[in-house]
Amino acid sequence: MLKVENLYKRFNLEAGFFAREERYVYAVNGVSFSVGDQEIYGLVGESGCGKTTTARTIVQMYKPDAGSIHFTEQGGKTYNVHSLGRSELAELRGKIKYVFQDPARSLNPRMTILEILTAGYRYSPYWPGPKQALEEAKAVMVDVGLQASDLDRRPADFSGGQRQRISIARALMVKPELLICDEVVSALDVSIQGQILNLLLRLKEEYKLSMLFIAHDLAVVSYISDRIGVMYRGLMMEEATARELTARPLHPYTRHLYAAIPQITLQNDAARTATRRFREVPDPTRPPVEIDETIFERKSPLAKAVAMLEVAPGHLVSPYFADPV
Ligand SMILES: Nc1ncnc2c1ncn2[C@@H]1O[C@H](COP(=O)(O)OP(=O)(O)OP(=O)(O)O)[C@@H](O)[C@H]1O
Ligand SMILES: [Mg+2]
Repeated sequence: MLKVENLYKRFNLEAGFFAREERYVYAVNGVSFSVGDQEIYGLVGESGCGKTTTARTIVQMYKPDAGSIHFTEQGGKTYNVHSLGRSELAELRGKIKYVFQDPARSLNPRMTILEILTAGYRYSPYWPGPKQALEEAKAVMVDVGLQASDLDRRPADFSGGQRQRISIARALMVKPELLICDEVVSALDVSIQGQILNLLLRLKEEYKLSMLFIAHDLAVVSYISDRIGVMYRGLMMEEATARELTARPLHPYTRHLYAAIPQITLQNDAARTATRRFREVPDPTRPPVEIDETIFERKSPLAKAVAMLEVAPGHLVSPYFADPV
């Protein structure tokens, strides 16, 4: 349904008082993955590894420097996400919805919940008129575990977990096919996290959704995802089904992430020593691997692909930052 191929994105840091020369942050350095129809694909990695940049590029908040993104809707039509006409763009905006990390900031405090749910919908090609939209809003509220009578209230009246449910309800109003959830449970305490994860799993079935589920917490990602991609410094380090990755993490960075979860301890000395290498915070202005800088000038989609090795069916491991496999 979603196919991201060889994506590159770097940010220009303006020269300033402390740095005379122009510098770049290498945020995404040749990332490829795909999300199947009604699949939950988890993207995991430490803060700053490029997860949000990848997601924002998918929803066209950023233009990629190289690479391509294709989206195939359930009806079979394929969109090349970064070369769309005006009407296709509006169509696609209804198919892919982004749920943000911080519900407190993404919900306008002055609007009622009904206004919040219908604000974007109103200008989409799918708007059914105010009467029908109100009925849909009531139904969506119930679907996310809130009440239809909550529609007149304002965000301040709700707890953090309830606000996250409102953000999810807003995304569901247009009946999207792909939901991008970027750190949607990171700001919530553990018991509420579980409720929201279970809600997403139920909604996935009811709304026949695919999901790109982004989080830095591997325990959370392993719980909800069908397949997982592990990112480090803008590169994909390993990809496998959640079950396979949990049972047999191969890349030292993946093992480092597992070792950071208190409940899961790997019975393996190699795993413990491997983690040392990933403790320091990397400098994002230094590319993690050698990058052909000409791709940024040419804006060509033809950068060299960053390949992983397939060590078992569907289990991919990066040769970078790795030990011989
Ligand atoms: N608009 C921007 N301008 C300059 N640098 C940016 C911008 N957005 C992100 N970056 C940098 O790109 C890198 C990747 O950031 P990104 O937000 O994608 O990471 P992330 O994996 O989502 O992290 P987190 O888990 O903290 O949300 C970071 O070094 C960040 O500082
Ligand atoms: Mg992020």
